[in-house]
This record gives sequence, C-alpha cells and structure tokens, in this order.
Amino acid sequence: MQLGAEDELYFEDVSATEIADTYGTPTYVYEENTIRDNFRRVLNAFRKYYSDFHLFYALKACNNPAIGHILRQEGAGIDAASVNEILLAEHLGLGGEDVMFSGNYLSDADMQEGLNTGVIFNLDDIKLLPRVLQFGKPEILSFRVNPGYGQSNIGDYVTNAGPEAKFGVHPDQVYDAYRMAKEAGITRFGAHMMPGSCVTDPDYFAYVTELLMDLIGHAGKDLGIKFEFIDLGGGLGIPYSPDEKSLDIEETARKTSEVFKEKTDAYGLERPTLMMEPARYFVGEAGYVLGRVHAVKETYKRVIGTDIGMNVLARPSMYGAYHPVYVNRRENEARERLGLCGQICENTDFWIKDRLLPAGTNEGDLVAAGKAGAYGHVMTYQYNGRLRPAEVLVNGSNHHLIRQRESFDDLIRHTNIPSYLQD
Ligand SMILES: Cc1ncc(COP(=O)(O)O)c(C=O)c1O
Repeated sequence: MQLGAEDELYFEDVSATEIADTYGTPTYVYEENTIRDNFRRVLNAFRKYYSDFHLFYALKACNNPAIGHILRQEGAGIDAASVNEILLAEHLGLGGEDVMFSGNYLSDADMQEGLNTGVIFNLDDIKLLPRVLQFGKPEILSFRVNPGYGQSNIGDYVTNAGPEAKFGVHPDQVYDAYRMAKEAGITRFGAHMMPGSCVTDPDYFAYVTELLMDLIGHAGKDLGIKFEFIDLGGGLGIPYSPDEKSLDIEETARKTSEVFKEKTDAYGLERPTLMMEPARYFVGEAGYVLGRVHAVKETYKRVIGTDIGMNVLARPSMYGAYHPVYVNRRENEARERLGLCGQICENTDFWIKDRLLPAGTNEGDLVAAGKAGAYGHVMTYQYNGRLRPAEVLVNGSNHHLIRQRESFDDLIRHTNIPSYLQD
C-alpha cells in the first residue's frame, strides 16, 4: 500500500475510494504483486543454498481460490488441513503429491476420504497409523514431528510444538512411528514439523531444523528409511507492529540449509527434497481490510466506530493481535490517542483501546487495517447478523471481485424451521 495525492491510500495502483465506491465496505483487498514477490523471495533465497527446495502454501491462511491460483502459478503445492481443503486444492488443479494432508485428530471419515484422494498423508500421532491402515496404505507417508520446542511472536496462541502443544508426534515416539510404518509395508517416506507461526528470528529456523533432523536422522539411519522429503513447516514471520523487525529470509535460508545439509550428511540420508509450507509470509502483508467509519463517540476517550469488527478481523479479539490502521486522506494529520472498534455487541470488539491515530478521523472516512491477508477472511463469521465481507484482488490498476459480499440469504441459507413451529 502507498499514499498518493492528498494522502489517498492506494492498493497497488487502485485507490481506496475506488474500491469502496465499487464494492462497498468492509472489503478484503489483496495486492497480487506483493504475494508473488513474497513467494519468489523465499523460493530464490532457499534455492540459492539448496537447489532441491519446494514450497507448499498452507491454504488455511487465505483459502480464496484466486489467491490459491496465484501461488499455484508460482509453483506452490498445497498444505491442506482438512478434506475440504484437499478438495479446494483439487479445484486449483492440484492433487497427488502436490498436496499434503496435515489434519490433526482425524476422524475415520477424514482418513478414508483423504486416502481416496491419493495425497501425501502427514500423520499427527503415532496412533493414527493403525487407524489409517484399516482403510488402506498411503502411497507416501510422513509424520508431523513435535520436535520438543516451538516459538511464536504471537505467544502461546500459535506455538505449535513443545509440551504445551496439541500437535505432532511426541519426540520419544518418532522412532517407533517410523518403525511401525516400515513394518506395515509403507515404502515411501517424508518427515514434517510445524513448531511455530510468525517467527522473525533466523536462528530459530536453524535450531528447530536441527531438532527435527536429530529425531528423524536416527530413524532413517537405523531403520534404513529413505526420506524423500523433509518439510520444515511454515512459520516465516512478518512484523505486525512498528517495533517488530522483519525476518531476514536470506539469513534464514542460509542458516537453515547449512544445518539441513550437515545433518543429512551426518545421518547418511540421501539428500531429500527440502520443503516448507508457509502462508502468513506470502499473503499476510499483501492483504488489507478496507472499512468505513460510521460513528464517532465522545466517551471516556474518543472511540472511532468502524465496520471492521471482530467478525471481520478476528485476530485482535482471538490473540490480542496488533494490526496497523491507516485512515484515508489523513495519514499526515496531527495524531491523538483514540480508540477504534467494530459494530459487534462484545467489548472484545473494541480492538484498539488506545493508539495514536489521525485526530480528525470522522464519520465517512475510509480506514484500512493492514497485514490482514493471512488468517483474516478465513476467520470471518456472521455474529450479530453481520455478513462476511467481499474479497477483491488488485493487480496494477486493475481490480477484480474474487468473493462476493454475503447477503441476507446467506444468513438463513441451510437453516430450516420445522413445520410444527410454523403456526
Ligand atoms: C501444518 C501447518 N503448516 C503450515 C502452516 C502455515 O503457517 P504460517 O502461516 O505460520 O507460515 C500452518 C499454520 O498454522 C500449519 O498448521
């Protein structure tokens, strides 16, 4: 995003006013070129140090098919968290070994349906193995390893490994998991972890890679398992607040690949494909929610009431997450400590309690919440009868609707009033 004449906000070359006039508010806006640049930055950095490096995109962060298509065009496979995400991947033209099924606490139906699709099975628990085998043998199987340590700039909410995490195979069970899989006749293997999300320290990625490699290296060496791929998960972080720093991708790639190569050599693993499956890094900074100020209240402090509520951007109320906010045509005005909220009947909707915002912010102004492309629209909901927002893709001076705003019909769709109540 950039500021144009008279401090108008621009998404690539499209003004906030044009988006709001065309599609209304609130609307998610994605910058296509930012997504492509982010993807290429990661791919090129890692390929420089390890040529057999591939990226999957974790669809859970932003599941709009248009966004999925952009990343597929760039060469990404898909990390799917559910059978429906596998179907979404198929809708993008991806299947088989271009898709990894990393669900957790799976039902029998999940396993059966997942097996039918022929994607890579990534098991989150040793006990899932005999359950999957009841229904068939995955062509290629990996375990999601809990390497015993995880980290996140967003705190415990998205720290996905270590003793407090619900995810992954316990470190002490990793060897047995692979042994059992081999004994069951599985012939093709990978390994996976996803120990944390939103990390901006390159050393962390090298450290968890070392932990993973030591756990699976023993299994590989002793059991004679050839790992075709090793997937380090996602977790590449972005700075949300002005005091957070950006992740140095170049350093991350260098340090992580070094450890990876050292360990594959140390355990005599033939160099497997190195994989990652980020999401936030690709789409987080490319996405904004464009909203409008509808009411300004003078109470204990001045509170700006917008249509960007917790139903539209859930992360602040879920995680206490920070999102930057920009006010159209006022970014260079004097600032004052203000509050900002949505229109939902919960005080968690009062998501900015006290922040320096343009003092003149007033009814009718357009506001944009930044860094909203990841875990944004996918977490919207209809509480208070508010409807899910539209999604728009911009590319240069072009803009395209990629998801319609919901209407009242969507609020009652799939509901039924039993006939005995209809008197
Ligand atoms: C299994 C798995 N892979 C990848 C990701 C993407 O993580 P991030 O957005 O931190 O890159 C997630 C996110 O939770 C995940 O659960």
